[in-house]
Amino acid sequence: MDDVLTGLLRPKGIAVVGASATPGKIGHTVVKNLIDGGYKDGIYPINPTADEILGYKVYKSVLDVPDPIDAAVITIPAKYVMETVKECGEKGVKGLIVITSGFSEVGEVELEKELVRLAHSYGMRVLGPNIVGTLSNSDKLNASFAPFLPLVGTSSLVSQSGALLIAIDAITYTRGIGFDKLISIGNMSDVNIADTVGWLNEDESTRCITLYIEGLKDGRRFINECAKAKKPIVVLKAGVSEHGAVAAASHTGSLAGARHIYGAAFEQAGAIQATDLSDLFNSTLALSLQPPMRGENLLIITNGGGVGVLATDSAESAGIPLKFAPETVQEEFKKHMPSFGSAKNPVDLTGMAGNDWYFETTKFALSHDWVDGLIVLYCETAITNPMEIAQSLYNALKETGITDKPITTSFVGGERSDSAMQWLVENGIPAYNDPDLAVKAMGTLREYAVLQDLKNSPINNDHEVDRQTALDIIANVRAEGRTGLTEVESKSIFKAYGLPIVRSDLATSEDEAVKLAESYGYPIVMKIVSPDILHKSDAGGVKVNINSEAEIREAYQTILTNAKAHKPDAEIHGILVQEMAPWGTETIVGSVNDVTFGPTVMFGLGGIFVEVLKDVVFRVAPISDMEAIKMLDAIRGAPILDGVRGEGPRDKKALAEVLSKYAYMISDLGEHIQESDANPILVYEVGKGVKIVDARIILKD
Ligand code: COA
Repeated sequence: MDDVLTGLLRPKGIAVVGASATPGKIGHTVVKNLIDGGYKDGIYPINPTADEILGYKVYKSVLDVPDPIDAAVITIPAKYVMETVKECGEKGVKGLIVITSGFSEVGEVELEKELVRLAHSYGMRVLGPNIVGTLSNSDKLNASFAPFLPLVGTSSLVSQSGALLIAIDAITYTRGIGFDKLISIGNMSDVNIADTVGWLNEDESTRCITLYIEGLKDGRRFINECAKAKKPIVVLKAGVSEHGAVAAASHTGSLAGARHIYGAAFEQAGAIQATDLSDLFNSTLALSLQPPMRGENLLIITNGGGVGVLATDSAESAGIPLKFAPETVQEEFKKHMPSFGSAKNPVDLTGMAGNDWYFETTKFALSHDWVDGLIVLYCETAITNPMEIAQSLYNALKETGITDKPITTSFVGGERSDSAMQWLVENGIPAYNDPDLAVKAMGTLREYAVLQDLKNSPINNDHEVDRQTALDIIANVRAEGRTGLTEVESKSIFKAYGLPIVRSDLATSEDEAVKLAESYGYPIVMKIVSPDILHKSDAGGVKVNINSEAEIREAYQTILTNAKAHKPDAEIHGILVQEMAPWGTETIVGSVNDVTFGPTVMFGLGGIFVEVLKDVVFRVAPISDMEAIKMLDAIRGAPILDGVRGEGPRDKKALAEVLSKYAYMISDLGEHIQESDANPILVYEVGKGVKIVDARIILKD
């Protein structure tokens, strides 16, 4: 575990620089919070004039403090901070909790850099600046101006928004969902989200990591750090509706919004993405109390048919559709219900269900191998007591001794149900006031299990490539002052990375064109090659279905004439002669180099699917072979690849291999390539492979 970060987040000895005797000032509040929180490892207020604050001796400088200090909370105006940093460094402080605002968030970028440089020169780390502070229940540490320590819990939150952290602090009590640590991360000048994820993964009091993110600085490191984590991570990302900072020079560029790219990154990181604040809380509750749902079989026990049906609907949307329980399982349930109950799934114990029936069926369901996850629903009735039902569930769970199978619950009723649910949560069983939420929570536990498998799948770096050829082409394009590669150049790079490009070559004369065509066989496609003509068809620069030598010669001349008429001063490299690929299912693969995550890879079906329906999926490159296969199944139009209207299934294996090789190419050349497309890629029947018909690469400026 990183010692310096531990000094910062679980300090032994803490100074408050800018401590004030004046109530209402942040420097006063922090001292008061440390005292009220019960922190016992040494509080040292620092102030040039005061003698005593809230009963604590005040020092003029950290250098005057006789005891060791791990962390200093900085609550003085920005212009005085540097001097204090120096003194903290000389004192041997490990970490600075810089509450002060007035740094990069208001354009003072250099001041912030200087703060970090100075801190690092003493081996210190910086949390902030521009933060609320940091809180830890297990250390009784409220080193912040948030009003109190949160309700005790086993999840820890890292928040880029200070105000939201304060709000969540209060919500922990009203929602009854506790946290151990609340860490405000502000400008992330030094300690960033990836650092805290790495540290919390080692923190013994944290069982689940909850993140509120506005923007990441080093996306790839974030993914790697999360992927290493052995604890569940749930993340709420704000600002997914706005378009990413990518100029849309290609199809892929126009589709690569923050929602897609961040969503992909979270999935690869193995992090569950929450849809809103409520969802963040609900998922945190499930993930911090329950194990993942490792198989697909969900069982629901209920005393009400209505909530059972509602939950059945929700299960389908949550990705865990219900199946009927096997006969043997049903027979056992029948022993604990009247004849008019239902032992299928949902198991409807009917409104007559009392403590014993809930106890017996819960115990049996949890113990049975067929059941991978259990949801218990209860509607408040006049013949039952919600608290006793809750206790029956708890006792059943205890008696089975099972800890690797998840359970979630929903009690629908009034105050008595609310109290019972609070009791369940306090005793480690997630409870929600709506059956849909209990199902969603189970869906989250299932998603967690699925993501674990995905994030552990290895990336294949064993592709045979000719990197030097690609680099030579790129160098040549740059030497000519271009960033856009011609089709021939783009295709040559694709070929160098082993991608199945249709056979094609550049002809600079009619005779050459004929020779190439005869070596490929008819029919043939011919296209103009010019860095000045991007939209070849509009310029009359494309001829298809050419079937003889005479047609080749004629097409050669027509294309040249059309191109010159379209743009008289266009530089013309020649004419591309290309085998005409037979019809196949059209797909598209593309990439943009994202400012946060670097090269990304996109997949979709071609034509209207990408243009109108925008049915595409993104990942951050490179990707594992397993991720490539999952990408093919992740689009809405996925069934088309499995064969529709009498067509046989398409060669998904070959397509996934192309995706994986392409992702490798764009990450291997990530420092050069800004955007790229392979469009269309024609996919044939199983065993017949795929062909990339057109390819495009645009270099970084
Ligand atoms: N060492 C120790 N104490 C010092 C000092 C130094 N080098 N320089 C000044 N102080 C003392 C001051 O004398 C004052 O104490 P006093 O009340 O006894 O006079 C105290 O530190 C605070 O300084 P002051 O000038 O009164 O500042 P302030 O309390 O008005 O504001 C901040 C200080 C840090 C709170 C303010 O600059 C700020 O950044 N506010 C925004 C915080 C925020 O919102 N963060 C982000 C949340 S999301």
